[in-house]
Amino acid sequence: MKLYDCIVSSHNEVAPGYFRLVLKDKELAELSQPGQFIMLEVTNTYEPFLRRPMSIERIFSDSISILYKVVGKGTKLLSTISIGEIINVQGPLGNSFPIDPNVKEYLLVGGGIGIAPFPALAEKIIRTHGGNIQVIIGAKNHPQVLCERDFREMGCKVYVATEDGSYGEKGLVTDILENLNINSPVTVYTCGPIRMIKKVHQICEQRDWVCYASLEANMACGIGVCLGCVVPVKFVVENEMMARVCKEGPIFDTRVIQWEKI
Ligand SMILES: Cc1cc2nc3c(=O)[nH]c(=O)nc-3n(C[C@H](O)[C@H](O)[C@H](O)COP(=O)(O)OP(=O)(O)OC[C@H]3O[C@@H](n4cnc5c(N)ncnc54)[C@H](O)[C@@H]3O)c2cc1C
Ligand code: FES
Repeated sequence: MKLYDCIVSSHNEVAPGYFRLVLKDKELAELSQPGQFIMLEVTNTYEPFLRRPMSIERIFSDSISILYKVVGKGTKLLSTISIGEIINVQGPLGNSFPIDPNVKEYLLVGGGIGIAPFPALAEKIIRTHGGNIQVIIGAKNHPQVLCERDFREMGCKVYVATEDGSYGEKGLVTDILENLNINSPVTVYTCGPIRMIKKVHQICEQRDWVCYASLEANMACGIGVCLGCVVPVKFVVENEMMARVCKEGPIFDTRVIQWEKI
């Protein structure tokens, strides 16, 4: 993990309140793996003081992209940054999505901005392993459906669920997941609100499907020092059954999470 002064090479509002930011740095791009995240310095003043964690959305030869939702002060400031400006980035951080080479069915389940880490994962699966990728995208409404075209262009089979029924199926990603029939071994990857991840885990457990979740937590240091981002797990890390989302994660096999404590 290092610090990089990245040049903003592209920055667009892709949906109301959602932005894609492309950050140019060859070494950062070469080191990045799908599932990892970066910590961005959104301002060079002290307000907000802490860096903001963001998943790596796509990895190109000399740049990476992030996809983010404006929710507060840091992301609002980030949204005002212009092409050509420099952003200091710490990363790449955390672990990456495991890919079992013996599995040929992959299911990516993203709720809202939780879809962000999956374009890079789909690209890696296609490039290095092959197989069938199905993606379930969930959003509140049609304008907030993210990355659909990207996944279709990659050749993935895409399902969309919107809560208001304005596009795709009316309902939640888990409604679509419950009705999917896959008979061969499948690996499921999920990211989104924690209640959604828990439900995805329960469905996968019933079917004996391996499921990896990208978890979020409030983060301060991003490198395993402050212990601000821990989640209860079924294994011991430094004498505690707590794992750091920034260090042991953010990707966890959902079977190792102590769901009853979350
Ligand atoms: C490993 C990791 C990867 C992430 N990847 C992405 C990503 O790809 N795209 C993206 O848009 N966001 C992502 N997030 C969440 C993102 O970091 C927060 O939304 C951001 O830090 C909020 O900063 P802010 O200053 O705008 O909001 P704040 O002013 O800090 O908070 C505003 C509101 O947002 C809520 N909030 C703050 N942090 C989080 C969080 N981590 N999760 C959920 N709600 C939060 C607060 O509770 C508050 O209600 C990720 C978080 C983690 C830990
Ligand atoms: S953010 Fe400090 S330990 Fe994870």
